Amino acid sequence: SPSDPDLVERARAAKARLGDKVFVLGHHYQRDEVIQFADVTGDSFKLARDAAARPEAEYIVFCGVHFMAESADILTSDDQKVVLPDLAAGCSMADMATAEQVAECWDVLTEAGIAEQVVPVSYMNSSADIKAFTGKHGGTICTSSNAKRALDWAFEQGEKVLFLPDQHLGRNTAVRDMGMSLDDCVVYNPHKPNGGLTAEELRAAKMILWRGHCSVHGRFSLDSVNDVRARIPDVNVLVHPECKHEVVAAADYVGSTEYIIKALEAAPAGSKWAIGTELNLVRRLANRFAPEGKEIVFLDKTVCFCSTMNRIDLPHLVWALESLADGNLVNRIEVDKETEAFAKLALERMLALP
Ligand code: 13P
Ligand code: SF4
Repeated sequence: SPSDPDLVERARAAKARLGDKVFVLGHHYQRDEVIQFADVTGDSFKLARDAAARPEAEYIVFCGVHFMAESADILTSDDQKVVLPDLAAGCSMADMATAEQVAECWDVLTEAGIAEQVVPVSYMNSSADIKAFTGKHGGTICTSSNAKRALDWAFEQGEKVLFLPDQHLGRNTAVRDMGMSLDDCVVYNPHKPNGGLTAEELRAAKMILWRGHCSVHGRFSLDSVNDVRARIPDVNVLVHPECKHEVVAAADYVGSTEYIIKALEAAPAGSKWAIGTELNLVRRLANRFAPEGKEIVFLDKTVCFCSTMNRIDLPHLVWALESLADGNLVNRIEVDKETEAFAKLALERMLALP
């Protein structure tokens, strides 16, 4: 949708006043009105790396969600300030694993006599507390673009993986990319005593999946895939690995937001694609590639935007940039030192993955 010209001008002016002091990062799920002001766009992995590669910027304005801004704070130097234009831009998946719940889970694994064999692997979409837990217990962070490499690494360190908090990414990577079976995976439910699992089940499992999911990607169904195939012959179905296993199993291609963009860039003219990921990105790609004769549709019209990603809109961005330009540091995201040290360990293990 077209952005308000007055706000566009104000954002441009505030950014110009700040010059090199500000660096704006934009996740691919951001609105068009926001993404036009991003100095770089990317998936979670690329943005974490790009944030760390800008030591000269005093302010990193993160157009994305809370856990991404926290990760940027952890990876940047102490005098760099990370700003999230709307503090209510959280992530429902990240909220599904709290520090207390994960500590309790570790007690359950210890009780079952397996904690020593377990390596935690936490998806980027988790709070800094969970990343710190992961670092403390010898584990690594992963994103949807390096989950297989993270699991390969983890299984070199131990016999079992506790995968937090997205059960779908964990299961899809284990089964689709690592050749494990569904029976190698169990689901730990933090709302049930002992995670709803017996000690025997925990001992037999290779992958202990936390019972979390993305409220957006979780809504694509096998029916969405079957319907689009019936409607559009020769359609290529391309989905994000946060989708349910049955959806991923029925898709032609699976990958992170950055992978999705690359796949469409490489697609031949005349090809048809149904994309199962967030709507802002799918719409942008449909518009971008239509002139090249690539037909791109949203996998399921009943699925909506990520409501928290959408909280970062042009008014919030303008407010943040103008405040910074006026010398007012607003909406700073700052992880405490102790949490940061352990979370950084886990993030650096990810950045060092082969
Ligand atoms: P990627 O951009 O890393 O694929 O992640 C998608 C996502 O859900 C971020 O919240
Ligand atoms: Fe979280 Fe899903 Fe939104 Fe990504 S798309 S930020 S995982 S709720």
